[in-house]
Parts: sequence; C-alpha cells; structure tokens
Amino acid sequence: MKAIAIKEFGSTANFFEEQRDIPQPRAGEVLMRIRAGSINPIDYKIRGGRFGGNLPLVMGHDAAGVVVAVGSGVSRLGVGDEVWAYLGGPCSNGAYAEYASIPQEFVTARPRILSFEEAASVPVAGLTANESIRLKARPTPHHSVFIAGGAGGLGSAAIQILQMIGVARIVTTSGREASTRFIVDQLRLSPEQVIDYRDKGLKQLTQEAIAANGGAFFDKTLDFVGGEMKRLCFELVDFDGDIVSTVEEFDPFAVPVWHGRASPLFRKSASLHFHLLGARGLYGARETWAGYTQQLHELAFLYEAQRLWPVGVQDIGELSVETIRRGHEMLEAGGIQGKLVFSVP
Ligand SMILES: NC(=O)c1ccc[n+]([C@@H]2O[C@H](COP(=O)([O-])OP(=O)(O)OC[C@H]3O[C@@H](n4cnc5c(N)ncnc54)[C@H](OP(=O)(O)O)[C@@H]3O)[C@@H](O)[C@H]2O)c1
Repeated sequence: MKAIAIKEFGSTANFFEEQRDIPQPRAGEVLMRIRAGSINPIDYKIRGGRFGGNLPLVMGHDAAGVVVAVGSGVSRLGVGDEVWAYLGGPCSNGAYAEYASIPQEFVTARPRILSFEEAASVPVAGLTANESIRLKARPTPHHSVFIAGGAGGLGSAAIQILQMIGVARIVTTSGREASTRFIVDQLRLSPEQVIDYRDKGLKQLTQEAIAANGGAFFDKTLDFVGGEMKRLCFELVDFDGDIVSTVEEFDPFAVPVWHGRASPLFRKSASLHFHLLGARGLYGARETWAGYTQQLHELAFLYEAQRLWPVGVQDIGELSVETIRRGHEMLEAGGIQGKLVFSVP
C-alpha cells in the first residue's frame, strides 16, 4: 500500500512516499481501506518531534473508509461497512495511507449523510470538543461559555455542540476577518459575540470579553489555543467555574491562579476546576477505549439527525507527499477556518 511517512522529525521536507505491506487485522482489529483523512495540529507537533515516536512514522488521526477485513472477536463491524475512525499512535499506522488496521473500539459506522471527506473531518475535533463540553465543562443552557479559538477545528465543533445543548451566551475569539465571517455566517454567532484579539493585551481582552458577556465572568472557559489564551481563560472564569484546555504548555508557564490579595479576582480564583485534556484514548489503558466507541456512536447519531453539521471542510487534494506537505504548511501557518481534509483514491 501507499503511505506518506517521515524518516526523521523536522520540517515538511521530510515527508516521503513509501510502499508498505497492507497490515493484517489482529484479534479485535478492523482493517479499513481509507477513503479520506484529515490533518490536525497534533500532526505537525508530532512531525516536529515534540512527542518522539518510532520512525519511519505514518501520521494522521482521522479517517473515513470501508472495512475490508476483520480480526477474530470482531462482530460489531463487517466487510463492506462504511466507517470512520480515530487512529494512529501506538495502535496502528496513521491515516496518511491507503489502509490501517485499527482496534475496533476506535471505529464505528460513519454518518451516511456525510461524504467520506466530511466524515474524516470529524473524529479528533468532534471527540475532543464533545469531551471538553459534555464530559468536562458540562454547561447547562443558562451558563455562559468563553471559547479561545472559535474558528478552528475544535472551536467550530464546540460552538455547534454548545448550541445543540441550548447554550446561547457564547463569546469567542478571532484574529482574522475571514475567521469572524466564518463564525458569524456558518456558526451563527452574532458579531458582538466575537472578540478580535489582534494587538490587544490580556487586560483589554478580559474587559472586552466580560463586556460581551453582559458584564459577568464566564461559567465555563475553553482554551483551544494555549499560551496567552490560556491565561485569558483563567482571567475570565467565574468563581467555581470550569476551565478546559486541550493545549499542553512546554515553556515555563505560570497561570494566574492566585491574583494576589489586592486583586478583585482573588476570591473567585480560590475555587475553580481546571481540566487538561490529553489524547488518552490511543495511548491509554484498553479499558478506557470503550468510551471512544460510545462517543463516536453519539457523534454519528448527531450528524445523521443534523443536530451537528460539517463546516469549513476544505479538500486539499489526493493523498501524496505534496498534499500532506501543503496541508501541514497551511495548518501551521494559521488562517484555516474549520478543517483540512484529503482524499485517498
Ligand atoms: N488534547 C487533545 O486531546 C487535543 C485534541 C485536539 C486538538 N488539540 C489541540 O487543540 C488546539 C486546537 O486544535 P484545532 O484543531 O482547533 O486547531 P486549528 O484548527 O488550527 O485552530 C486553531 C485556532 O487558534 C486560533 N489562533 C491561532 N493563533 C492564535 C492566537 N495567537 N491567539 C488566539 N487565537 C489564535 C485560530 O483562530 P484565528 O484564525 O482567529 O487566529 C484558530 O481558530 C491545538 O493546539 C491542538 O493540538 C488537543
């Protein structure tokens, strides 16, 4: 099979095409002919060597395709089923390939209402947004939620999930006219719910976000950016509120949990709940994997029912070194609204 791999960590120049044997499904695994995949920020972080890993490495955590074989003990899925999957890491090769054999827990029937490309845009962003909101922050319709990074893959999924739950008081950030247009036109927020973060310090952003929330701190804040945006999420959260972050910090980093006695924020900051989401599924203990099956089923149901819908899915071409290289460079440069996907003919 064709796969796009890296031999060394570093720049996009390291991608090369290789021919590999088609993997054989082991017990409990599903062999999938991949028809489409997507590119996520974790991919360029891995490519850069931040997390290590065995080389040569085939990246890619999102795929949609067709089951072509199953290992012993798999009864839920069969040959010919159209599926989507969360894959890669230590469990299988990634999605930059024609085939992958994946533990069945990370594979479910894809929503038939979506194309393969649209389906491939969902697993990582959908699972992470769903976990951030429905399992960690757990807002009710009367809560207010601040999202750092509303136009990205996670942000756009998160806004939809919040709207589905009935949360109306949402404020998010944008650093581009195109991001603001995308959030307003496709995610149906009003321009007043979008804060332009360009050339503004933490203090001004705090004031603007609180003003956009009717003068109140937020019940829940979601950090999908990291760095200063994580600090902003700590500034904005109300007493006893929840902060969820999906972004690890590698630089020396001190969040302002204690603002000092002089600060009016001191009291509220004494009680909050911070959740840092890690990619446990593919890397964690097998007994945690079933939760991913359930969430993939739920997401499929919600897309079928059109409670969620794909937004900003940009098809960047067929699987090749050039396509993957371009996708990494586009995502790393920023300025993408929604998701980048590729097809695997
Ligand atoms: N822990 C996990 O399980 C997990 C899972 C998935 C993703 N993640 C991580 O979560 C993060 C977001 O993922 P994603 O797929 O949503 O990424 P993405 O699609 O690249 O979106 C990133 C967003 O960040 C915004 N942004 C960029 N620079 C910014 C800055 N300086 N200040 C404020 N906003 C800025 C961009 O918006 P503008 O266009 O408005 O600048 C964009 O909306 C990544 O770091 C990713 O690795 C973690």
